[in-house]
Amino acid sequence: VKLRDLRTPCLAVDARTLDHNLAAMARALPGARLRPHAKAAKCTALARRQAALGHRAFCGATARELEGLAAAGLGEDLLLANETLDASRLGRLDARITVAVDSLETIEAAVAGGVREVLIDVNVGLPRCGCALEQAGRLADLARGRGLSVRGVMGYEGHAVGLPERAARKRACDAAMALLAAAHAQVGGEVISAGGTGTFDLNGLATEIQAGSYALMDTAYAKLGLPFRPALWVEATVISTSAGFAVCDAGLKSLGMDHGNPGIEGARVWFCSDEHTTFAPDPESAAPLGARIGDRVRVWPAHVDPTVAYHETLHLVDGEDVVESWAVDLRGW
Ligand SMILES: Cc1ncc(COP(=O)(O)O)c(C=O)c1O
Repeated sequence: VKLRDLRTPCLAVDARTLDHNLAAMARALPGARLRPHAKAAKCTALARRQAALGHRAFCGATARELEGLAAAGLGEDLLLANETLDASRLGRLDARITVAVDSLETIEAAVAGGVREVLIDVNVGLPRCGCALEQAGRLADLARGRGLSVRGVMGYEGHAVGLPERAARKRACDAAMALLAAAHAQVGGEVISAGGTGTFDLNGLATEIQAGSYALMDTAYAKLGLPFRPALWVEATVISTSAGFAVCDAGLKSLGMDHGNPGIEGARVWFCSDEHTTFAPDPESAAPLGARIGDRVRVWPAHVDPTVAYHETLHLVDGEDVVESWAVDLRGW
């Protein structure tokens, strides 16, 4: 099958760039130093590649991701890096399951669901999940009192990972990890789980880094100067042209837009609507894109995770050849 034969819009992944990204991360964070986050690609075939490179502990954001990983035989050590009030599906899995907890309610849910291991999730500056630092020790005692094994702490510095300037990113990460270290002193345990693609080499505290985007990347992370390159694009067809602009058939229903407009090489993207992206040749580009009806264009998403979640298949390509097609089999909840 050729890339040209695929119906558009569809997700394409450059197989060599993916290999490069996976290998670069495996060199930087070998084995258990990386706990790949499955939410970015939602794909057990990709997770298998990561496992083959030595990363056999995964995390996910949904029960569905953990279920799928367990069913694929990747259940050696799975972390729900998220809060849940219904752990019953997790407790039934034939896998080692740990869940993040940040309240009495989530501790009770873990117990009721038959989950035996938890991490105390600490708010390290991102106003999302995680308990206050002062609560960490108390929650760990509560969890232990309810018969759970507390493996350690988690604290995701999501407010730091995307900061464009490396020194600022490092400062924000250090401040977040100072909080997590203080929480860990209260909680104990062997695991300090934190980090993401933007802080994979800046986080000096975490025993394991929860990066996911690094494998496929996106234009937002590409601006940070990381050693990972964009591997994923939405393959689209030019369906209409007018004086000064062109339109392709990939719109916001095939692209995660929360990090902004996608990129098209040699073009300026004007806007996306449901099933269209309108773009114009970029006069400042070395090769301004003069698109004609029927041309294929590569639309590079600004945010990988939601983009992948819109699609059923990731097509791995080598040049013009589609070498494999992987199901995005961890979608849904
Ligand atoms: C809990 C958690 N850990 C880690 C990550 C890191 O992911 P990424 O590789 O995209 O930076 C995320 C992403 O949002 C997350 O929510």
